[in-house]
Amino acid sequence: MAGLFDSYKLRDVTFKNRIGVSPMCMYSANDGLPTEWHHAHYGSLALGGAGLIITEATAIEPRGRITPLDCGMWSEDQAEAWKSIVEFMKSQGVVPGIQLAHAGRKASCKPPGEGGKAMSTDEGGWETIAPSPIPFFDTDPVPRSINDEDLDQLLGAWVSAAKRVAAAGFEVLELHMAHGYLCHQFLSPLSNKREDCFGGSFENRTRFLISMAREVREVFPENKPLFVRISCTDWVDGGWDIDQSIQFVKELSEVGVDLVDCSSAGSVPYANVKVKPGYQVPFAEKIRHDTGIPTAAVGLITEPSQAEEILHNNQADIVLFAREMLRNPRWAIQAAKELKVDIALPAQYLRAFT
Ligand SMILES: Cc1cc2nc3c(=O)[nH]c(=O)nc-3n(C[C@H](O)[C@H](O)[C@H](O)COP(=O)(O)O)c2cc1C
Repeated sequence: MAGLFDSYKLRDVTFKNRIGVSPMCMYSANDGLPTEWHHAHYGSLALGGAGLIITEATAIEPRGRITPLDCGMWSEDQAEAWKSIVEFMKSQGVVPGIQLAHAGRKASCKPPGEGGKAMSTDEGGWETIAPSPIPFFDTDPVPRSINDEDLDQLLGAWVSAAKRVAAAGFEVLELHMAHGYLCHQFLSPLSNKREDCFGGSFENRTRFLISMAREVREVFPENKPLFVRISCTDWVDGGWDIDQSIQFVKELSEVGVDLVDCSSAGSVPYANVKVKPGYQVPFAEKIRHDTGIPTAAVGLITEPSQAEEILHNNQADIVLFAREMLRNPRWAIQAAKELKVDIALPAQYLRAFT
């Protein structure tokens, strides 16, 4: 029976505990480069006792950014700029992870602080692309349908970004296939209405993503784990659902994906999401049970005893925390105290916790 503070190993990477910081966009980059904000933010989280930090959705190409302030991984400079942040995480015994993403039809928006609305090209936005020319909100600009040339370019961009992630020193790579962004737009019949070999049947809707994951796995170091975040359900009848997720995860596992991070929703604005504490944990549990693939649980998990129970009940292998880590970056240290587990603390902070 695993506990929150038991170590965990995937490939050659050992996590000192089962607590992870979930990826969270900071909308604070400059030309895709991390800034002082990222040094302070991830530095602070690295001191808080978590075993893993997955840094924010980072775009594989400029048109894949949600906003102009997103981080990117389309240039060598961007990889280089992460190195000192990554090194600091490692110096604190934290496994550094990163999430690679493409926003597809959800790209070209104002940052949340400025309202978050889709921007037309006149407002400083850019042309968005998607499996089908259907906007997320009816009032958004219509995305251009992805053609064969785009697919080749996208595949190349995912692979090059994965190589840069490894060069920057990250030890976990997570592919963002959730929350209604480009990959999820292929998966969900609500956003994918293609009539070629990338739309229609389950096999067609998953085709591009399986080849992408396979090619990324081939270039990402063999001794480092590859995660995929999926939305296990659209929460809409006729949409992507848990049964399709299970089948998809089995296929992801065959191409070398090591862990599935189980989130939900995001493909359409009208979904009826039943939010409550731990509301996505049953998805992590079912996928783990039905596929044998390790999972991460996430979503309204805030209490140490709640997180420990998820592990004790074999519902997931690691637990991720997002908003709770923004409220309290030392959450893991406090959880150890509450659960009466001795953990190593930064010497500089000892007087606060003894
Ligand atoms: C500020 C903020 C930014 C987020 N950015 C991302 C992101 O970049 N990628 C992602 O997959 N999820 C993102 N999320 C979702 C979180 O990773 C997490 O799945 C969600 O907040 C539920 O977990 P929580 O209840 O612990 O906050 C974000 C959430 C917040 C609050």
